[in-house]
Amino acid sequence: MSNTRHHCLQTSIFVGRMGFMCAKQHVKLDRLLLAWLLLCYGVNNAYCLTVHENSGDLHSLLEFKQGITSDPNEVFSSWNTSTHYCRWRGVICTPKRPWRVWGLNLTGQSIAGKITFSLANLTLLSTLDLSSNLLVGQIPPLNGHQQLETICLNDNSLEGTIPNALTNCSNLRKLNLSKNHLSGAIPPKIGSLSNLKYFDISCNNLTGSIPSTFSNLTQLYFINLFLNQLEGNIPEGLWGLPNMVILELSHNRLIGEIPQSINISRLQALGVAFNKLGKALPSNIGIALPRLQRLAMGRNTFEGQIPASLGNASGLQLIDLPENSFTGQLPADWEKLSGLTRLNFEKNMLEAGDIRTWEFFHALRNCSSLRVLSLAQNRLQGVIPNSIGNLSTTLQQLLLGENNLLGVVPPMGNLHSLVSLSFGENNLGGSIGDWIGKLQNLQGLELSGNNFVGTIPSSIGNLTRLTQLLLDGNKFEGSIPSSIGNLSQLSKLTLRYNNLQGNIYL
Ligand SMILES: *[C@@H]1O[C@H](CO)[C@@H](O)[C@H](O)[C@H]1NC(C)=O
Ligand SMILES: *[C@@H]1O[C@H](CO)[C@@H](O)[C@H](O)[C@H]1NC(C)=O
Ligand SMILES: *[C@@H]1O[C@H](CO)[C@@H](O)[C@H](O)[C@H]1NC(C)=O
Ligand SMILES: *[C@@H]1O[C@H](CO)[C@@H](O)[C@H](O)[C@H]1NC(C)=O
Ligand SMILES: *[C@@H]1O[C@H](CO)[C@@H](O)[C@H](O)[C@H]1NC(C)=O
Ligand SMILES: *[C@@H]1O[C@H](CO)[C@@H](O)[C@H](O)[C@H]1NC(C)=O
Ligand SMILES: *[C@@H]1O[C@H](CO)[C@@H](O)[C@H](O)[C@H]1NC(C)=O
Ligand SMILES: *[C@@H]1O[C@H](CO)[C@@H](O)[C@H](O)[C@H]1NC(C)=O
Ligand SMILES: *[C@@H]1O[C@H](CO)[C@@H](O)[C@H](O)[C@H]1NC(C)=O
Ligand SMILES: *[C@@H]1O[C@H](CO)[C@@H](O)[C@H](O)[C@H]1NC(C)=O
Ligand SMILES: *[C@@H]1O[C@H](CO)[C@@H](O)[C@H](O)[C@H]1NC(C)=O
Ligand SMILES: *[C@@H]1O[C@H](CO)[C@@H](O)[C@H](O)[C@H]1NC(C)=O
Repeated sequence: MSNTRHHCLQTSIFVGRMGFMCAKQHVKLDRLLLAWLLLCYGVNNAYCLTVHENSGDLHSLLEFKQGITSDPNEVFSSWNTSTHYCRWRGVICTPKRPWRVWGLNLTGQSIAGKITFSLANLTLLSTLDLSSNLLVGQIPPLNGHQQLETICLNDNSLEGTIPNALTNCSNLRKLNLSKNHLSGAIPPKIGSLSNLKYFDISCNNLTGSIPSTFSNLTQLYFINLFLNQLEGNIPEGLWGLPNMVILELSHNRLIGEIPQSINISRLQALGVAFNKLGKALPSNIGIALPRLQRLAMGRNTFEGQIPASLGNASGLQLIDLPENSFTGQLPADWEKLSGLTRLNFEKNMLEAGDIRTWEFFHALRNCSSLRVLSLAQNRLQGVIPNSIGNLSTTLQQLLLGENNLLGVVPPMGNLHSLVSLSFGENNLGGSIGDWIGKLQNLQGLELSGNNFVGTIPSSIGNLTRLTQLLLDGNKFEGSIPSSIGNLSQLSKLTLRYNNLQGNIYL
């Protein structure tokens, strides 16, 4: 379970951005109310008390308090009948008589216990935020709550299903049930929540398929179904929701393909990694998703070419397509993607051979913020072009291992931000130049399984941050440079299967 939580933080398209809290306090309302309450209590306390004594809301709240088994912050100490419930901690009332409960917000109070069904009787409740607590049990059937706009129960330990009754909350704009232990299917009637904008059920145990009624929810802006056990096809209508900005479906068991009809002009982030999706990507994807910034589709069975049209989505920052079956050559005209930071095609069947296919690297010269480039475990052949040395100096990881590369490694001393550099398991030859000593940030250098000859450059001894130096399975000769003994961080050094002599003094 802790593993699951950990995963939950790693949702591919959200890394370091685009998080949404259960936010948007109605500050104005709060102030109005506070002003009235101060007045009320100052002037005529008794009158105010009688108002709430008759209210069903009072009893609903008191019953809710009964359900709480642990309250380390003493939130509920103010919840007593000698105080009007509108002044209880976390309770927000309507700004006008008869002072009904409009909001209940006890986020992050470490309260434990069950949510009693009595909340269903707070018929004017608009905002319910009990997120980030230790609540267990089921979500109450909040039926008859036409007023509910926001429900945040995320980050608890709630079980059971998503109650069908929630689909009666026709004003619901935001539903966050992320990080619980919910199971069962998403109620198909969800499609009647025509005002829904944010729908987050990530990190639960939900099963069944994504209801096709989602297609009716044209207001949807944010869908996060990450890390559940949803199966079946993705409803076609989801690919045409006009207001969608973030669509995260990763870590489920979804099948099918992404249709050619895809058209979401506002979409900025699309995640479908770790599913069972396949076939070719729509060739027009970069034109159909012109605002796309983050695309995560790793670990599926996608095949065919990487669509060149991605090069038209000029805001792209992250393209993460590892562990698929993409074939063909790399697009040669991605000059527009100057904001790319991560480009990962690891474990596919991409090819390169003649000069033309390597034009890909030329195009990437304009990506001045590139940090990660991985083409490891593909079918790249031929000689690495010199233009590799002209990739951005921001590059931190350059991974080209397990291909069929030939020739010598061009000088790359400019790439001084490199932390990991791998050419392992290719057919590269020649000697490694002294330029390697310029890569002062290098922590991992993998050259194993090639045909490198000559001496190991002594400038390697300048790479004081190296933790892994893998040189085995080559034809390095001569003595082992004594400078390697300077590498105090080194935890893994492989030298076997070479023609080396001498000792190392670590
Ligand atoms: C929902 O809750 C999760 C977990 O607390 C949080 O990370 C996410 O930002 C929330 N989503 C929305 C749309 O508020
Ligand atoms: C609940 O209150 C917290 C501050 O205590 C606030 O950050 C959060 O946005 C509120 N939730 C809702 C749904 O308004
Ligand atoms: C009721 O709550 C108020 C704070 O709102 C507190 O001052 C008072 O001591 C409480 N009374 C009892 C009987 O707990
Ligand atoms: C809701 O209110 C009705 C009538 O006021 C009452 O009969 C019922 O028991 C209440 N339900 C809960 C769960 O408190
Ligand atoms: C939804 O509301 C309708 C009428 O308002 C009611 O008949 C139905 O039972 C409610 N459904 C649920 C699941 O509460
Ligand atoms: C999902 O269910 C499995 C087995 O039933 C359980 O081990 C796991 O902890 C559950 N995950 C969540 C997030 O509830
Ligand atoms: C979806 O919209 C169509 C047409 O507007 C309507 O006939 C259908 O009942 C809606 N489905 C749901 C579940 O609301
Ligand atoms: C894409 O959707 C927009 C509305 O969001 C529509 O105006 C446009 O015609 C659609 N394009 C295609 C090719 O279907
Ligand atoms: C997409 O990019 C290609 C090559 O850069 C260009 O020829 C084409 O006009 C672009 N299409 C659109 C719709 O921007
Ligand atoms: C290269 O990037 C710059 C912005 O960094 C942009 O102005 C220029 O048009 C790009 N070159 C090409 C060929 O797209
Ligand atoms: C890098 O680009 C510069 C200028 O564009 C050029 O002079 C240099 O030869 C290039 N280096 C490599 C290794 O291609
Ligand atoms: C490596 O360090 C040596 C001194 O130990 C220095 O003479 C040499 O210039 C350095 N080489 C590079 C490539 O930085």
